Amino acid sequence: MRCKGELMLSALFVLVMSGVPAAAQYPSKPITVIVPFAAGGPTDVVTRLLGDHMSRTLGQTIIVENVGGAGGTIGMTRAAQAEPDGYTIAVGNTGTQSAAPALYPNLRYDPAASFAQIGVTNFTPEAIVAKKSTAASTLKQLIDYLKANSQKLIYGHAGVGSISHVAGLLFNAEFGLKPTLVPYRGTGPALQALVAEQLDYMIDQSLNVIPQVKAGTIKAYAVAASERLASLSEVPSTVEAGVDFTFRAWNAMVAPKGTPKEIVGKLADALSKALDDPNVQERYSELGSSAPTPGERGPAGLQKLVESEVARITPVIKAAGVTAD
Ligand code: MLT
Repeated sequence: MRCKGELMLSALFVLVMSGVPAAAQYPSKPITVIVPFAAGGPTDVVTRLLGDHMSRTLGQTIIVENVGGAGGTIGMTRAAQAEPDGYTIAVGNTGTQSAAPALYPNLRYDPAASFAQIGVTNFTPEAIVAKKSTAASTLKQLIDYLKANSQKLIYGHAGVGSISHVAGLLFNAEFGLKPTLVPYRGTGPALQALVAEQLDYMIDQSLNVIPQVKAGTIKAYAVAASERLASLSEVPSTVEAGVDFTFRAWNAMVAPKGTPKEIVGKLADALSKALDDPNVQERYSELGSSAPTPGERGPAGLQKLVESEVARITPVIKAAGVTAD
């Protein structure tokens, strides 16, 4: 007959062995990454590019789930409410992770507090583009044309709170433009509408528009930055064109708050390895994107960026007097 103490020690032994911390075994099954916009847009393209490399580092499949709507906030809400076990993560962006709180008074997540930040995936300037039949030759000519006709024109974006929506809000407010704003589930489908000339102009991540600009199916007037992009060298920067409008977009990978630090660390490490991969760096260069520097990477770098961007963008949106609800 074994004494009570021996039975308890045996039970403890079994528990410890079978309950080897989940983090040590992570990942033991495929990982889902929520992209809060439609397939084919910049957030989706970056996620699939990085996810492919990360899956090799982690030894598990990374499954992209596109959950569009409400400027990306539907997808990010789902991510914030997911089980914090490392098997559901997401890639948000400047819109969902910085502008959304000012635009959605009833937003069901806090970009700084509802997530375990993993890291910034990329920075890319926005680009001002229009349908290919647009007569204007320069950015200033385009702005003059828009000022004279905006109420008859259509501006496409990825939903209230998306980068393309916020950039458009700020650009239109600066020049007194009042186009009809038409939302899509991502700037992938919005760009297709621009190519089909169902829209008149957009401001979108340069990584999304570069292939269409080079194909001649849309016209690019400027990159909203102080310098030209090497991958779009024929297009001036806004500053060079004499227009004081810059907008740097970023995308970032997050997990639900409460995800174990060891798991977040494995994901952040796999993301950093993907960012250092020569093929990823070549693709970024082609698409006008830049990877975060080592100091900008990881959970701390992203937490700092989110907090500073929310503080920067919120008063600007409130001054524009716009909310989604
Ligand atoms: C945005 O406009 O916020 C995004 O670039 C949209 C997208 O990634 O589809």
